[in-house]
Amino acid sequence: MAKPDKSRTEGLTTKVQERAVAAGIDLDALPRHIAIIMDGNGRWAKKQGMQRLIGHAQGYRTLKDVLLCASNLGIEVLTVYGFSAENWRRPDDEVQGLMKLIGNAARTELADLVRNNVQTRILGRLEEIPAETRRSLQALADSTRANTGIVFNLAINYGGRAEIVDAVKKIIDAEIPADRVDEEAISMRLYAPDLPEPDLIVRTAGEMRWSNFLIWQAAYAELFVTDTSWPDFGERELFDAVLAFQRRERKFGGL
Ligand code: IPE
Ligand code: IPE
Ligand code: MG
Repeated sequence: MAKPDKSRTEGLTTKVQERAVAAGIDLDALPRHIAIIMDGNGRWAKKQGMQRLIGHAQGYRTLKDVLLCASNLGIEVLTVYGFSAENWRRPDDEVQGLMKLIGNAARTELADLVRNNVQTRILGRLEEIPAETRRSLQALADSTRANTGIVFNLAINYGGRAEIVDAVKKIIDAEIPADRVDEEAISMRLYAPDLPEPDLIVRTAGEMRWSNFLIWQAAYAELFVTDTSWPDFGERELFDAVLAFQRRERKFGGL
């Protein structure tokens, strides 16, 4: 389980928290785990007459800012959808450009996550990712494994159905009899079984769908969709999502 950010237990110690409180956020009722479907990079680029890959590059800058913001706010886990198992269907040049960008980000922009005590994990079928990108992602995960701050899950070549299929394969490999297969048996074999499920799932760029993201874990997550494209997302939008979350009444099937 992720240890809470120190700042969370020591009162208003970060500027982000001061601004969050000023915006009306209750620091004692934060979502523990926020997951984000980072969508709209392509449309953002097109709107400014630029290539889609420029939008993706800008998206990685946004990601770094939002991660540090979430960490300073006191969020325990941030999971982001970086590349879906279905995104291989895109034209070759975009797929290759994205893989290069993800590898570069892992080596450079995201590298000082080590200094910021961020623990990075990669969710998805890593073995299918091109070697160079895979190595950079693995190195990032290895170099931050002992960090005790926010857990940052980067979902790459991730599919929610694939994750469930992988869990079922593990159950079969372990020769678990059918009468012992229950929800717990599946949950404990997902990619990050030790983490709390997402409380809040944010989707940028207006689309009202899951696109195969965390479909098992999202069973009781609150959904927040903003029209803002991912490259324009920032602290203000993160605060809006948390504020909306804090106004919801979660009932989990009860009354
Ligand atoms: C999200 O932006 C990033 C990835 C899916 C890799 P898109 O590339 O889907 O942007 P739009 O939806 O075409 O605007
Ligand atoms: C979901 O966005 C995947 C990521 C954000 C990485 P997509 O743009 O691929 O989703 P669809 O195709 O609109 O459902
Ligand atoms: Mg999209």
